[in-house]
Amino acid sequence: MVDLDEWQMVVRPGEGEVVCFDLQARVSLADGSGVELTEQGFVVCFQGQLRAWRNHCPHAGSPLDWVPGQFFSDDGRSLVCHTHYAAFEPLSGECLAGPCARGLYPLSIKELDEGVAVPLRVEL
Ligand code: FES
Repeated sequence: MVDLDEWQMVVRPGEGEVVCFDLQARVSLADGSGVELTEQGFVVCFQGQLRAWRNHCPHAGSPLDWVPGQFFSDDGRSLVCHTHYAAFEPLSGECLAGPCARGLYPLSIKELDEGVAVPLRVEL
């Protein structure tokens, strides 16, 4: 996945909070053509640090939050996909438990005084 160096601003989430955003994703096909999709990403603040992830579970592709905006486990220590309950470490995206064979898909972020810059477009 490649960020295409176009940015949009989102509000910085508070500790233990998530801010979701839409982004455009281009998928290149084997025949050289491409498809444009609207995807969702989210910025999470955990232990004072920010990370951005694609809202796309690596197990079967579901959004992690079947209840919109709810990503954290009950104890607040992991991000959970609510489809089959894969659990991910909030800062590394690593799969901690459940049916995930890999971690979350990272997105770039830039922390700025006025908020957080996140990708507007990516190529998958
Ligand atoms: S789709 Fe996320 S755990 Fe299955």
